[in-house]
This record gives sequence, structure tokens and C-alpha cells, in this order.
Amino acid sequence: MSETWQDKRQLWTVGVSNAFWLMWRAWVELVCYGLKRWWWQVRCALWWGWLDTTPQKLVEAAENRYQRADDLIYGETLPGTAYQLLKRLEVDENDVVVDLGCGRGTVPLVAGLAFGAKAYGIDLLRGYIDHGERLVRVLKLQGVVSFRPGDILKCEIPKASVYFFAGTCLSAQHWKKAVSNFSKAAPKGARAISLSQALPAKDWELVSEEKWPFSWGMATVFIHKRL
Ligand SMILES: C[S@@+](CC[C@H](N)C(=O)[O-])C[C@H]1O[C@@H](n2cnc3c(N)ncnc32)[C@H](O)[C@@H]1O
Repeated sequence: MSETWQDKRQLWTVGVSNAFWLMWRAWVELVCYGLKRWWWQVRCALWWGWLDTTPQKLVEAAENRYQRADDLIYGETLPGTAYQLLKRLEVDENDVVVDLGCGRGTVPLVAGLAFGAKAYGIDLLRGYIDHGERLVRVLKLQGVVSFRPGDILKCEIPKASVYFFAGTCLSAQHWKKAVSNFSKAAPKGARAISLSQALPAKDWELVSEEKWPFSWGMATVFIHKRL
């Protein structure tokens, strides 16, 4: 058997098992949140608003421009997971939530729709921002949720009470730069969620470490409080 054939078979197996995982999670969420308006709004918006392209296509188009292919690898927070994590942080309409590298914007959309919190999504790729802004108009979330282009390694990060950082795919150097950039903006007492690794203990108190489902499988989530 040639290596190429083995590679293809492996990719196909991963794709099929991921499709089953996503279907299973959609079913679990339907059972848990099927009576919730916010859940239908987020799920339908992410389906309808993305009929014209996919994150994979945006990433492929951007790879040459940014030369940081690994940083752009896409995976996302499932609406039910975003809801449970924000609930866990007791988010309400007085909170400001920032998703650092927001992708399709599930976290800001859930924060605005389910909790009435003000939410920002920041991403390097303009395509996510354009799609996010269109969903804000369709869902009538102007003034509540907004999307802005930016490089989280160096752009100005809004002052917020909750930061969400899914930096799993960033290189070690970029991960450090992003963390130092948003830690500067985070006021004392702010909460932060990071995926896969905890934030530096000199700036952030680790409150808990938990496992939650994401689009690619189960991932470790670290919940922190700014010192
Ligand atoms: C794993 S995805 C997470 C998406 C979203 N936060 C979620 O949980 O659904 C990471 C996102 O970070 C973005 N990203 C990577 N490097 C970035 C940078 N330097 N500045 C802004 N966004 C970046 C990618 O384009 C991608 O959309």
C-alpha cells in the first residue's frame, strides 16, 4: 500500500469520525437547548451565514499572505459549550466579553443572545469579521455584539470582564505574545478562559481546570481570575 493511500485513508477516517462527533454533539445540544431561542438563532445563523464559504477556504486563501499556517488552523467552540462556560463565569448583561481569535464568532454571539452581555470578536482574517458583522445585522445585535479585524499579538485589546482565548494552535512564541498583550488590558478581577494550557501564574490565578466538548473533540479548559 503506498504512503499516499495510507495518508488519504487516515484523513478520511478523521473526517468521518469528526462528522459523527459533530452530529452527536448537535443532537445532545438539541435535547438540552432545543427549547431555547438563542440556540436556534446561533445554530441557524452559523448555517445560513456561512452558505457561501467555509473557514477552511478562508484559511487556504490566507495562508500565503500571513505565513503562519499553523496559527490559522480552524476549530471552534460549540454553542452549548460557549453557553455552559459563560454560565459557569456567571456572565450577565453587565459583562463585557472578548473572544481573542473569534473565528465564526460563536462565543460573542452566545454572550450577546443568551446573556445580553456586550461582546467583541477579534480575528486576523477579514472573512470572519465580514461574516460576523452580517450576522450582527441579521440578528439585530448592533450595539451588543461587534466584530473587528486585528492581530491579537499586538492590537489594542478592549478592556473587558471576560476574555476567551482559544490559542491551542498558536506557536509557543505567538501564544506568549498574545497572552502578554491581553493581560496588559485585563483589569484586576477579570476572568479568562484559555484552552489547552493555563495562563502565567504571575498574572492569573487558576480557578479551575475542566474538560469540555469542542468541534474537534474534548479539550481542557482553564478558568482564571486576573490578579
Ligand atoms: C481555534 S480558532 C477559535 C475560534 C473561536 N475563538 C471559537 O472558539 O469558536 C482560532 C482563531 O484564532 C484566529 N487567529 C490566529 N492567530 C491570530 C492572531 N494573531 N490575531 C487574531 N486572530 C488570530 C484564527 O484565525 C482562528 O479563527
